[in-house]
Amino acid sequence: MRNEIIRLVNTVSDPTAKKAFTVEMQMFSKLLSRYIAGANDKLDWEKVKSPAAGQILPYSQLLQPEDERALLKQLAVLKVNGGLGTSMGLQGAKSALEVKDGQTFLDLVVQQITHVNASQDANVPLLLMTSFNTHEDTLRIIQKYDPKQVRITPFMQSKYPRIMKDSLLPCPKKESDDKAAWYPPGHGDLYTTLYRSGMLDRLLKEGRQYLFVSNSDNLGAVVDSRILQHMIDTKAEFLMEVTDKTKADIKGGTLIDYDGTIRLLEIAQVSSEHSEEFKSVRKFRIFNTNNLWINLKALKKVMDNGGMELEIIVNPKVTDDGHSIIQLETAAGAAIRHFRNAQGINVPRSRFLPVKNCSDLLLVKSDLYALENGRLVPNEERMFGTTPVITLDDHFKLIRDFQARFKTIPRVIELDHLTVSGNVYFGRNVTLRGTVISESRRPVYPL
Ligand code: UTP
Repeated sequence: MRNEIIRLVNTVSDPTAKKAFTVEMQMFSKLLSRYIAGANDKLDWEKVKSPAAGQILPYSQLLQPEDERALLKQLAVLKVNGGLGTSMGLQGAKSALEVKDGQTFLDLVVQQITHVNASQDANVPLLLMTSFNTHEDTLRIIQKYDPKQVRITPFMQSKYPRIMKDSLLPCPKKESDDKAAWYPPGHGDLYTTLYRSGMLDRLLKEGRQYLFVSNSDNLGAVVDSRILQHMIDTKAEFLMEVTDKTKADIKGGTLIDYDGTIRLLEIAQVSSEHSEEFKSVRKFRIFNTNNLWINLKALKKVMDNGGMELEIIVNPKVTDDGHSIIQLETAAGAAIRHFRNAQGINVPRSRFLPVKNCSDLLLVKSDLYALENGRLVPNEERMFGTTPVITLDDHFKLIRDFQARFKTIPRVIELDHLTVSGNVYFGRNVTLRGTVISESRRPVYPL
């Protein structure tokens, strides 16, 4: 394997590019060696406990800060934006999807930060961690924004070679091989990327001591000064926003108490014999929203001391030409156990509004929400606090099918349940109320 990696590195001729690529491949080799050595087999289920009292605090207990402006001077915001929207049939960055009123996720994020800066007379910078898959889309969208209103800094995360499942040999033969032979190694890569790129030092130099990280498709992840104030008051070096599980979230990563320390546990780390227990709401009531607050001085210290060995998530895939490959990834939240006074904050669901599929997209686009400074504001006319339960079948899986089947988005303010199966098309001016089941057995003809 070592030889294969050296061969890959030697396919780069430009000395500067070669140097950077060598470091990247060294990190990849370290990850692969840990995987081969069975780094992930060490979890002892007997020690996996529900979080202890005090490890997770309700958001309602946090206090409003007195001087919000002073707080915001110390804050930077980072969106992890390296993922593609392949499960929804998107070709490019998921954050480039037009999500509401013709605006993309990234547009809405920029508006959210611009609003914080304008209303608090602050200058919170926005960092966007892109990948080789999303960098161009990201640059295209942000170029229209005035740097005087918001400072946006895109920076690219690592690019690792996919590996053949059986031989564990890298798929690419040369650095310039097609994108399909490579992958971005998960959002846990953000720590190394911040450190290696010099971004971490730059932030600290400018007096930014805290970083708020979230997924670029989570429109509920807006800056919250109460959480930041709490972080400062309690000297917590790391906070993870968690929220109560519903049936739809049982597979989400959860916080556990492991030998007295708080840790993130992902379903990929759990053997099949314990997976039901992992999903149970009784033992693990909350899940990780991936809204994370990090003390940057503490991060610098951890990275200077050799960094973190985050738990490896093995992501198996089958390539278009039928080869079984694996990707070794890490999750940002797994860093929690490397920080002092780390805590979970149990936040309202409104801070977790992601779009994972076209059913989520329908809700976000609908009259259930209005846009206000890039935020989704719930429509007050909705009688109940809950959102409708929407089940669209595979005819609506891909974004182009979703767009073709909804001429306009129906009014759903009085909707409780919607189940759609089969070859269904919605016309214009539709209002859905109560429980709606729509079914069509007509065969699908090419559009
Ligand atoms: P993921 O692909 O990890 O999550 O992207 P998901 O498919 O939305 O589902 P869950 O949340 O894991 O269940 C989550 C965020 O992480 C970014 C994506 O752009 C998205 O904002 N991401 C993912 C990266 O920045 N880099 C990666 O390598 C992977």
